Amino acid sequence: MKALVLAGGSGTRLRPITHTSAKQLVPVANKPVLFYGLEAIAEAGITELGLVVGDTHAEIEAAVGDGSAFGLRATYLRQEAPLGLAHGVLIAREFLGDEDFVMYLGDNFIVGGISELVGRFARERPAAQIMLTKVADPRQFGVAELDAEGRVIGLEEKPERPKSDLALVGVYLFSPAVHDAVAELKPSWRGELEITDAIQWLIEAGLRVESSLVSGYWKDTGNVTDMLEVNRLVLESVERSVGGRVDAGSELIGRVVVEPGAVVESSRVVGPAIIGAGALVRDSYVGPFTSIGAACTVTGSEIEYSIVLPRASIAGVGRIEASLIGHDVEVTPAPNTPRAHRLVLGDHSKVQISS
Ligand code: G1P
Repeated sequence: MKALVLAGGSGTRLRPITHTSAKQLVPVANKPVLFYGLEAIAEAGITELGLVVGDTHAEIEAAVGDGSAFGLRATYLRQEAPLGLAHGVLIAREFLGDEDFVMYLGDNFIVGGISELVGRFARERPAAQIMLTKVADPRQFGVAELDAEGRVIGLEEKPERPKSDLALVGVYLFSPAVHDAVAELKPSWRGELEITDAIQWLIEAGLRVESSLVSGYWKDTGNVTDMLEVNRLVLESVERSVGGRVDAGSELIGRVVVEPGAVVESSRVVGPAIIGAGALVRDSYVGPFTSIGAACTVTGSEIEYSIVLPRASIAGVGRIEASLIGHDVEVTPAPNTPRAHRLVLGDHSKVQISS
């Protein structure tokens, strides 16, 4: 079995973060979301990895390289434009050959890996196996309709009136039968070749499509709340490890990770939390469910339940909560007079001021 990971697309839902960074590289507990997927693939015993990449290909290649860090052999497949998930399968035709494959969307996060699902597929050999999960707003997803026995009878991509609250999770298992389906597809209303339509084609052709329900699933719905929540979920399972330097005036409480090269001085860090490599935390409080990225500085400040991306600096500001702070951002106090907020915000930024 091979793996096809889709790491193209433009990431409009996660702006402004994705103005400068591929959505698959948005960090969760200081690790790109894509890496969790690659680890899950390797853990399932797969070694051949095809990565479909688009405009952000250089960044993805710099992060994943030849795949050996994950125990994988990576082949890059260039998608000239974001023409859909099924288009990704189309351009990977030669790479995939006539083998079964798992298709994994690089911006999806699944708790508990995929080994069990891959095992089930290998045993039962349906034409396709999909994963479903209950979501609050199915209109943002592919949606499945099941019959009384729980068999999939229909699939629709981002329907206005969803027939259920069961969304298609971005991990699919396919036999080579899917290539016949993909070859027949026409672009959808959003101009994309939809993998959802390809699976619907398999169902209509009378082929077997299996499904299973999963919990513990996340994808970027453009919602910072969701990102903070998945960050919390992952931090829940970190073990305490202190590779950096923590001075005697500091206190680490609970499961705190201080990565090598990080410095914590005169501060209090309450886990679960992670302080990235080369970061400096001084005269500050870092509260639970916070990920401070590599080479950040947090001085004279308080921060909790937040994600701070690499090289940001937060100095001398009161308390920050439930925030997502981008690369190289600077958060500092304004001068005392006039009493005013001073903002330099990039396109699509969001600011909530409490005053
Ligand atoms: C894609 C699929 C959709 C699926 C979702 C999961 O949506 O088209 O069926 O539910 O991934 O991440 P997209 O990310 O293209 O909006």
